[in-house]
Amino acid sequence: MQVITTKLELTRQVTACLRQNKTIGFVPTMGALHAGHASLVQRACSENEVCFVSVFVNPTQFNNSEDLLRYPRDLEKDAKLLELLGVHFVFAPTPEEMYSKEEMESSFMFDFNGLDEMMEGKMRPGHFNGVVQVVSILFDLVQPTRAYFGEKDFQQLAIIRYLVERSPLANRYKGIKIIGCPIVREESGLAMSSRNERLSSKEKQIAVAISQVLISSLEWAKNDSVFTVQQRVVDAINAIDGLTVEYYDIVDKTTLQPTDTFINAVGCVTVYCGSVRLIDNIQY
Ligand code: PAF
Repeated sequence: MQVITTKLELTRQVTACLRQNKTIGFVPTMGALHAGHASLVQRACSENEVCFVSVFVNPTQFNNSEDLLRYPRDLEKDAKLLELLGVHFVFAPTPEEMYSKEEMESSFMFDFNGLDEMMEGKMRPGHFNGVVQVVSILFDLVQPTRAYFGEKDFQQLAIIRYLVERSPLANRYKGIKIIGCPIVREESGLAMSSRNERLSSKEKQIAVAISQVLISSLEWAKNDSVFTVQQRVVDAINAIDGLTVEYYDIVDKTTLQPTDTFINAVGCVTVYCGSVRLIDNIQY
């Protein structure tokens, strides 16, 4: 496995793969890798001839500088795991290598066709502009055959699909297939997240209730309306000492617009467990 830190070397390696007509699997990450990332990487390695993973804590997608500072970083540990998983190339640039001064300072604007108006987009202004900014640079560099994203970040996945399949930039990315992969959970049911590292062991136990309530909501959905289920989920999570719901929205899986039926619906939740912001979702 080779760790690449410059765009020039990345382009050199990608060009060599493309010349040999090799299929390229790509998993973009911000490091602090866990079993959720490992499942994406395993799939990318098994479905493609070459596997590239990027490890880059993208400053332009953080709307909270404290959150950016506290984001866990351990490239050495991540690289060991990626090597074991059979990855061929890791791209781990500095922010200065990734962005020009202008790109770093000017705020990149993307028209999301309404997909950013709710949930994470509403709570974290500018977040998805930063995500699309970095993902489009990475797609231009890596030119993957398939790119893998976790369903835990459901809104992010819907936005990346839109970017590649339906947006005005779709023509540029038409060769890329976006693969959504299921949420990987700890044995307790807690969705795997790099942020779980910041939970105390007591908070980890408390946070298990999030997925438990979401699973209960599948039963509630058999009799109750979407509105009632939303309310029940919020009330049940808030009733647990140490958890505070930021939002729970049941939306259409493709348009992310509020829906009043459970057909093609996903419920997305954000919960504070102490100071740690956790997200999870469930498909009805
Ligand atoms: O999901 C993530 O880890 C990030 O948002 C991504 C896609 C790597 C872009 O920085």
